[in-house]
Amino acid sequence: MVKICCIGAGYVGGPTMAVIALKCPAIEVAVVDISVSRINAWNSEQLPIYEPGLEDVVKQCRGKNLFFSTDVEKHVSEADIVFVSVNTPTKTQGLGAGKAADLTYWESAARMIADVSKSDKIVVEKSTVPVKTAEAIEKILTHNSKKINFQILSNPEFLAEGTAIQDLFNPDRVLIGGRETPEGAKAIQALKDVYAHWVPVERIICTNLWSAELSKLAANAFLAQRISSVNAMSALCEATGADVTQVSHAVGKDSRIGPKFLNASVGFGGSCFQKDILNLVYICECNGLPEVANYWKQVIKVNDYQKTRFVNRVVSSMFNTVSGKKIAILGFAFKKDTGDTRETPAIDVCKGLLGDKAQLSIYDPQVSEDQIKRDLSMKKFDWDHPVHLQSADPTSITQVSVVGDAYEATKGAHGICILTEWDEFRKLDYQRIFYNMQKPAFVFDGRNVVDVEKLREIGFIVYSIGKPLDSWLKDMPAVA
Ligand code: UDX
Ligand code: UDX
Ligand code: ADP
Repeated sequence: MVKICCIGAGYVGGPTMAVIALKCPAIEVAVVDISVSRINAWNSEQLPIYEPGLEDVVKQCRGKNLFFSTDVEKHVSEADIVFVSVNTPTKTQGLGAGKAADLTYWESAARMIADVSKSDKIVVEKSTVPVKTAEAIEKILTHNSKKINFQILSNPEFLAEGTAIQDLFNPDRVLIGGRETPEGAKAIQALKDVYAHWVPVERIICTNLWSAELSKLAANAFLAQRISSVNAMSALCEATGADVTQVSHAVGKDSRIGPKFLNASVGFGGSCFQKDILNLVYICECNGLPEVANYWKQVIKVNDYQKTRFVNRVVSSMFNTVSGKKIAILGFAFKKDTGDTRETPAIDVCKGLLGDKAQLSIYDPQVSEDQIKRDLSMKKFDWDHPVHLQSADPTSITQVSVVGDAYEATKGAHGICILTEWDEFRKLDYQRIFYNMQKPAFVFDGRNVVDVEKLREIGFIVYSIGKPLDSWLKDMPAVA
């Protein structure tokens, strides 16, 4: 029986291993983590992450061929294939601070693998890492080994949160990079055999190590670039009276461009896009390619601009001050169908409004009060450092209340900001909400979820990203 161990029971490791266990009943899969609370949650009725369909998969395999454990060393030493899916935060200090990846967690995992291994192993990079990480990891592994053969593979994960299970069941492609040696080819084949249990072989792409590592950064950079492109257009649409959804539709009909990932928004978030682009920028700079670095940097700059522009629009529309005014925040997660708040645009928008002394009443169907307050008191980039999380002080956030539904959040509010596209926000009784709000009542839709015309009929002053402006807003231009 092949044994797989995955170090890191997070958003990537957990769902990926659960699906491997489901699709390969003859493989024993152990998911290990240093976080006792996370492992306990994986073994409980309340899984640590919210992901549609995940619970069902876990329940089918847990205790049969899928195990969650904190006994990292035991499971690593017994495994034939070790996936590494630990945090790769952006460095907060020292060389490359604010850009380069901090490989502390990766390095400690690699050293541990080298220490506890007694047999040959395939070590698989699963978390996104900078190009050439495999080379560094290989050095750690081989220099410590006791004649043990380690083969390093890069097998980046392309799942998106909210659709993780669907993406894993039916991936566009699986990418496996390895050394171009006979041993490397054998290792690639071994991993290919695992995926071939359910993925058609023509969708399994095999490359060299560096191509696989770079493809992951490139794919995320291209996706983020599309969003920044449409968001840049949204600003121009507001200035000219065009409607960004009409422009996206027309542009997306070109089969060379395609219709997906063209929704204008208050900005992209999530654990990958910004981090991976910063990584790409740093690698370009280190390789003496400043023009290439600047090209990609602009994708992040436009994303930051979009969030700032939104905050400015809110403040300027409300007579240039939100001081002491109740603002309802609907949605805090970085996208719908997830409870994840890593790099969510809501953090920057809320911090911007708090900077102008607003009183925020926040509602998100999946994010806890504790998480929201921690996010708003945390420093940039600290979210991916398990040790730094403790330094956040949620009690310092006094202008924020977190409530249990949208009606409570909006009651008595001067304005509403929609920051996540949860389906339930489309179906709210906006007539009732209007009745209970201060007048004039504002809606700032950062996700294009509301029916603008209908809300204007009710009496709201509505701003929706990239849509023709309300006459009220035209008189109060936002300073970006
Ligand atoms: C373009 C648009 O495609 C077309 O829809 C519009 O109406 C007019 O402008 P055209 O300029 O005729 O058409 O050619 P196109 O095939 O788009 O190529 C433009 C340039 O991009 C060429 O120099 C081509 O070699 C280059 N190109 C295209 C690349 O370098 N790489 C590619 O992958 C595609
Ligand atoms: C992304 C990649 O899609 C995935 O392949 C990779 O493995 C990890 O990073 P994820 O971050 O989970 O996945 O979510 P994604 O659906 O890509 O959305 C990222 C952000 O972009 C979200 O904040 C989302 O709201 C935003 N977005 C997405 C837009 O603003 N407009 C769009 O059209 C699409
Ligand atoms: P991702 O979104 O990439 O899955 P997460 O932050 O959700 O990232 O998960 C990473 C997990 O890795 C965390 O649960 C963390 O506790 C775990 N981890 C980090 N370092 C180690 C290590 N050396 N050994 C075991 N687990 C680790």
